[in-house]
Amino acid sequence: MTTPDYAAKIPNNVSLAEDRRLQRALESWQPDFLSWWQTMGPTLPTQDVYLRTAVNVGREGWAHFGFVPMPEYRWGIFLAEPNPDRRIAFGQHKGEPAWQKVPGEYRAELRRLIVIQGDTEPASVEQQRNLGATAPSLYDLRNLFQVNVEEGRHLWAMVYLLHAHFGREGREEAAELLHRNSGSQDAPRILGAFNEETPDWLSFFMFTYFTDRDGKYQLGTLKESAFDPLSRTCEFMLKEEAHHMFVGTTGIDRVVERTAQVMVGNDTDEVAAHGAIPLPVIQKYLNFHYSVSLDLFGGETSTNVANYYTAGLKGRWSEERRKDDHKLTDDSIMVDALVDGQAGQTEVSALVGLNTDLRREYIADCQSGVNRWNRILAAANLPQRLKLPHVAFNRRVGAFASIEVSPDGEQLSAAEWERRKGQWLPTDTDKTFVRSLMRPVYERGKIAAWLAPPRNGINGKPFDYDYVHLS
Ligand SMILES: [Fe+2]
Ligand SMILES: [Fe+2]
Repeated sequence: MTTPDYAAKIPNNVSLAEDRRLQRALESWQPDFLSWWQTMGPTLPTQDVYLRTAVNVGREGWAHFGFVPMPEYRWGIFLAEPNPDRRIAFGQHKGEPAWQKVPGEYRAELRRLIVIQGDTEPASVEQQRNLGATAPSLYDLRNLFQVNVEEGRHLWAMVYLLHAHFGREGREEAAELLHRNSGSQDAPRILGAFNEETPDWLSFFMFTYFTDRDGKYQLGTLKESAFDPLSRTCEFMLKEEAHHMFVGTTGIDRVVERTAQVMVGNDTDEVAAHGAIPLPVIQKYLNFHYSVSLDLFGGETSTNVANYYTAGLKGRWSEERRKDDHKLTDDSIMVDALVDGQAGQTEVSALVGLNTDLRREYIADCQSGVNRWNRILAAANLPQRLKLPHVAFNRRVGAFASIEVSPDGEQLSAAEWERRKGQWLPTDTDKTFVRSLMRPVYERGKIAAWLAPPRNGINGKPFDYDYVHLS
């Protein structure tokens, strides 16, 4: 494999120094990235932060930890180690060698896939930029910034592919990735969930659990791509993404744990008065983030996605572990559909139903989080449980966009939905309450009253470590 060049202006393991044109192009994008980070990145002033930085891609020692002033974070370009014998695992080119260059006939489609993935990375940094002002602990503040710098690196990862493989159009797309902004009227981010606000830490934990998890599944399909540089890029991104999942999973664990403690300790469900977040409010936030994240998987059926699969651009989750012919030309799948105006299912060809296949993998994964939070409630001897709402609940994309159902799947008229939705989605009152709890705790070893401390700190450090030095 290529030895990583960590001393370079742009740390990388892609031998950037040997391609002067590409190096110059990326070095001219770098100041634009930094000015984007300064204007759209974290707003809380800090001296330095205890951060993980990717420095290599090997099994061991791929990252190091240390205090870094965030604008000096070493955003680098790292692709997973190449497998010189890698072959395409699915579609019409199955068995052929993976592509090291973009085939002309798939250029537009591959570029589009990379741009859509790339657009989500800086979007989440923009969505989360004000959260530092209300961090519940230095440990959580550090995790927020870790997620932020790594999403920045994921943007670099996609921009590298655009610059290296898509010529002038790639460079234009790379510039656009910094011009679109989350929630902007004129130039919003491409996908809906990435234009929503992340105004408080409960939303942040829900976002990293549900919406970052969508990213994990999208990266999983791109990791299968016949276009090997994309595959290797995504494989390495997934390694970093695991920490983002951890932040969400354990973040919600700790919210639920604290709420359960306060419920048991005070023998009441009315925990708001004690500064904790009531379970029904947690459920509403869960309902919201889960339903908008389901929308990110697109329509139940898609001929575009069928074509991507057949062409080898984008595979299935765990493609190589599937026990079928990996071409799917003769297979079928049941997908969600409106049947006589009701939420039901219909049979379509497996290729056309690939979005559904991916969404189902995602849903099963989301359920595992809910089970975990319910175990915390059960361990506290509480009868309440959290649950995922019905798949048709609050959907704006796909077969169920035109109907309204309750979290249990009961179909509602538009008027009834308007009347009752405040029972299931966060209301202004809920949001104001949650925001009222969001007061910063920057003292070492201290934590906000609505959240339990973590079991362990980061990289073997204790919870009361000084993870962030504020300025
Ligand atoms: Fe990412
Ligand atoms: Fe992420």
